Amino acid sequence: MKLIESITAMKEYSSALKKGGSGIALVPTMGALHAGHLSLLARAREVCDVSVMSVFVNPAQFGPTEDFAKYPRDLESDRALAESAGCDCLFAPSAAEMYPDGYCTYVDAGPIGDILCGAARPGHFRGVATVVLKLFNITAPAAAVFGAKDAQQTAVIKRAAADLNLPVRIITAPTLRDADGLAMSSRNTYLTPGERKQAANICKALFEAKSLFEGGECSVERLKNTITSTIIRGGLIEMEYADIVDPVSLRPFPANTESPALIAVACRTTESKTRLIDNVVAG
Ligand code: PAF
Repeated sequence: MKLIESITAMKEYSSALKKGGSGIALVPTMGALHAGHLSLLARAREVCDVSVMSVFVNPAQFGPTEDFAKYPRDLESDRALAESAGCDCLFAPSAAEMYPDGYCTYVDAGPIGDILCGAARPGHFRGVATVVLKLFNITAPAAAVFGAKDAQQTAVIKRAAADLNLPVRIITAPTLRDADGLAMSSRNTYLTPGERKQAANICKALFEAKSLFEGGECSVERLKNTITSTIIRGGLIEMEYADIVDPVSLRPFPANTESPALIAVACRTTESKTRLIDNVVAG
């Protein structure tokens, strides 16, 4: 596996591959790799000849009181994991190269970035859209793979790719879960043992709501209340939001409709103050 740390070298690698007729599938990550990331890589390897995984903890998507400083970083471990999973190239640029002095251009994700997680994290999706577009310009992928756990992120990127006519296919890969259902996330390492135990209720609540929805329950309020009561019942998890929305536009789900719905939640633990998100598609 190649390790590339400079933008110029990455562009050269990508254009040489293109000239040779190979396409790149990109898996953008912030590192602290786990099995969920490796499943995205496996999907990337299915769709293109060459897989590139980026590892970059993007300062532009963290708010001033968020966990940018403590976000787990371990390039050596990421490198070993990516290589063992068959990654062709790990791209790990520095923040100074990605955002040099004088940097001032950002991608506005629009209203789709201001709702759900965007309401509690102002500017987050602007930071995500900016870095992902930069990564697309640097690596020139034919496809890019994102995890379904970050449903709003994928919706934002799909929208931006369509709106800005980007020549890249956006692929969503399923959420990987621990044995008790908790969606894999690099932030799960922050959880205290008690929080970790109760965090399984998040997935439980989502699947309960999915089966109620598919059984004909179409009151968004009742579904939200069911989700909330299951998630908060242990006392160590508080709700940020639970919502039922259209999976593409993320607009509020219209009652009495036959189309699928995205049931999404964000919550925060009370001890380690960890923010956790998850979702399921129902219908
Ligand atoms: O999902 C993530 O890890 C990040 O938001 C991404 C897509 C790598 C952009 O920094």
